[in-house]
Amino acid sequence: TEGKPLQGKKMIVTAGPTREKIDPVRFFSNRSSGKMGYAIATEAARLGADVLLISGPTVLPDPPGVTTIRVESAAEMFQEVINRYDETNIVVKTAAVADYRPSESYSKKMKKQAGNLSIEMERTTDILKTLGERKKEQLLIGFAAETENVEEYARKKLFNKNLDMVVANNVNETGAGFAGDTNIVTIYKRVGDTLQLPLLSKNDVAKRLLAEIIKLDKEDTQ
Ligand code: PMT
Repeated sequence: TEGKPLQGKKMIVTAGPTREKIDPVRFFSNRSSGKMGYAIATEAARLGADVLLISGPTVLPDPPGVTTIRVESAAEMFQEVINRYDETNIVVKTAAVADYRPSESYSKKMKKQAGNLSIEMERTTDILKTLGERKKEQLLIGFAAETENVEEYARKKLFNKNLDMVVANNVNETGAGFAGDTNIVTIYKRVGDTLQLPLLSKNDVAKRLLAEIIKLDKEDTQ
């Protein structure tokens, strides 16, 4: 398996934003382009993993050597991930999943009315937290997109969601986070030293992250 250290591993990577429908023409979403998650999926396949990419709406082409499933909402992403979780070895949740969706979505286009409009929102299922609760042998890696107190919030996610690693990015920093081709991340581990990476292309962040995943996977199976 020289050069293919993830041979035989089933991996799920989630990427991109979700869309939470208001009516047939409107939705709530966020700035995720999918680039970070697609880079991880591509690199994992190159390293031999059997990769399923579960992606929200993006303009990116399906990565080569990867099975890609396209979804829209947080609820759809949850279904696709949970359906396959038991037989999966490694999950990397790069997607920027909506925390709220409109309590009601309308089947006809909403018409303008006099005065202001309020839209009531309800919580979506926290996919990552659910995966943490149902974890058996899987390696579970989450992301944390923060604008302040990055380390504190990342460590909270690591423990509250029962993760093995959290990849934190301060999305206010130039060159980090949403949409660009680069990122600046710090990798916090349940066990082992924190790894602070410099500004790198998203492809190189993917490579460094997968190197850490491979190390963890080896420790686990020893
Ligand atoms: O797609 P790009 O344009 O390349 O941008 C990359 C990125 C900024 C989206 C990526 O690097 C990143 O930070 N992804 C996580 C975004 C996010 O939603 O972070 P969060 O801190 O809100 O969520 C924490 C973790 O919980 C994430 O792993 C997320 O997938 C997961 N989550 C969140 C809400 C929810 N309902 N279910 C979840 O599983």
